[in-house]
Amino acid sequence: TLDKVRLIEIPKVHDERGSLAVIEKDVLPFKIKRIYYLYDVPSDSYRGGHAHKEQESIIIALSGSFEVIVDDGTSRKRIMLNKPTQGLFISTHIWREIDNFSSGAVCLVLASTNYNEAEYIRDYDEFCNLKRGAV
Ligand code: TYD
Repeated sequence: TLDKVRLIEIPKVHDERGSLAVIEKDVLPFKIKRIYYLYDVPSDSYRGGHAHKEQESIIIALSGSFEVIVDDGTSRKRIMLNKPTQGLFISTHIWREIDNFSSGAVCLVLASTNYNEAEYIRDYDEFCNLKRGAV
């Protein structure tokens, strides 16, 4: 279900010199194994379009904005990310898509696993079938 998908508030320190956000200790529900980021993304670009069998992710709009669609095979919702202090936690077996990138948007992903193509589900019908079988 989409219950586990949630926004995590990242603690920040703000003063007249600017803002500083910190991710440490138990801010995240998993240990970070890998960090990747999307940048120079054309505004009409569509990313994601997959689910993971093992990887848990946190998605952060480090700069600019974009929208994340999350789908559990039954329902879907669209979440706009536009704050560097908000992390969207996505558990395993959730289909995600990302679109509507603003110019200059940077999409940071904190991942719980190393990259392994074998744990991706890249076919939406296969994803829905897996979900149906799992319920
Ligand atoms: P892809 O999964 O299509 O990106 P997105 O989910 O943003 O649409 O990945 C694009 C390419 O990058 C694909 O060939 C796999 C490769 N890749 C890596 O080599 N390592 C990684 O950690 C990631 C996330 C992708």
